[in-house]
Amino acid sequence: MNCKTKEGVKTATMGNMAKLSASILSADYAALGSDVRRAEEAGADMIHIDVMDGSFVPPITIGAQAVKAIRSYSRLILDAHLMTVHPEKHIEDFADAGADYLTVHAETSAHLHRTLQRIREAGMKRGVALNPATPLYVIEHVLGEADLFLLMSVNPGYGGQEFIPAVIDKIAALRTMLGKRGLETDISVDGGITIANAAAIREAGATIIVAGTAFFGAEDMKKAASLLKGGEE
Ligand code: DX5
Ligand code: ZN
Repeated sequence: MNCKTKEGVKTATMGNMAKLSASILSADYAALGSDVRRAEEAGADMIHIDVMDGSFVPPITIGAQAVKAIRSYSRLILDAHLMTVHPEKHIEDFADAGADYLTVHAETSAHLHRTLQRIREAGMKRGVALNPATPLYVIEHVLGEADLFLLMSVNPGYGGQEFIPAVIDKIAALRTMLGKRGLETDISVDGGITIANAAAIREAGATIIVAGTAFFGAEDMKKAASLLKGGEE
């Protein structure tokens, strides 16, 4: 099985394959432990944990305590996606809870460069997320300071929304920006991804596919995982 270590996610290579990060927003919150195990058995490489604060986005979900609980159920890479104001207030809590990646939104990080430094100092990999309407130039000067860029392909807050097609060009543009600097940083794409649109997302340069509905809602999760990653049925 891939990604059993905490070494980070290698940039996908051959044939536009990608890693699958299972978004537990679509899992059963009353049975998270067993759903995380089901995700792992079906072929997920990472577990994507959506942390919402009721301020940056309307809903409130879960926090570091839930990450700690999930940690004891799985050795998969845990990516905490913080949809919160002042994400810098929570860095140590998520490190202590066992998160491998901490992904913060550029829109809520007044001092993004410093926040990324602090995430690394806390022993986690650094992720930066951008809303669909946020231009790529806001990350131009921190391109070398992150381990992952997460491009939102829906407006954050809810699972099961429709993919915003304009994000395909944004993925390709970010891949070009990174390439010009000799960087092979992971690009993760989050929201509205289905088996039907996953190939275009991978071809544009995404190396991590975040999927909630299309994975946990699938009749055959194993098959869904393989197809979302670019493998065979
Ligand atoms: C939305 C979250 C996503 C969400 C994706 O704000 O960041 O991770 O769970 O769900 P689907 O795959 O259902 O669009
Ligand atoms: Zn997310």
